[in-house]
Amino acid sequence: MLTTTNARKIDDVRKEVDTLNAHSATADALMEGLTAVLNQHMLKYNWVGFYMLEEDADPPALLLGHYQGAMTPHTRISLHQGICGAAASSGKTVVVDDVSRDNRYLACSVETKSEIVVPVFVRGKVVGELDIDSHFLAAFTTEDRELVEYCAQLVGKRLEKA
Ligand code: SME
Repeated sequence: MLTTTNARKIDDVRKEVDTLNAHSATADALMEGLTAVLNQHMLKYNWVGFYMLEEDADPPALLLGHYQGAMTPHTRISLHQGICGAAASSGKTVVVDDVSRDNRYLACSVETKSEIVVPVFVRGKVVGELDIDSHFLAAFTTEDRELVEYCAQLVGKRLEKA
């Protein structure tokens, strides 16, 4: 069954993520490694990247950090723009099953069909987010969401200690 296969794969990737976390010396290294692990091992995760809140910017904006996948024109996104802006300003995970039906969507690639954006928190404040695009409609199941939220939490905990 597809769901069972997906769940088993996600369990394996979670173990990889835990190993990566244990071996990453810094939050920056962890973020870089997470983009690689998620992009390489989760076949539906075609673009994986972090956007981090620009410090002291007025108005605040999200700056592209580590990513894997095609180059994107969106290297700086205001909090009022895109699915990325919506996730950062609300502090909530946003899952879009069909980006063509969401007028907030900022296109990165014509191949993208669905997207998930999960905020990263430090001491209760949004400091950035983990953004994943898929070439498949409704690619992000509940299990995928839990995995991506887990990764975002690890980064938040790491940044808290920095
Ligand atoms: N699609 C995002 C923009 C970033 S790209 O996906 C890399 C959005 O709507 O905010």
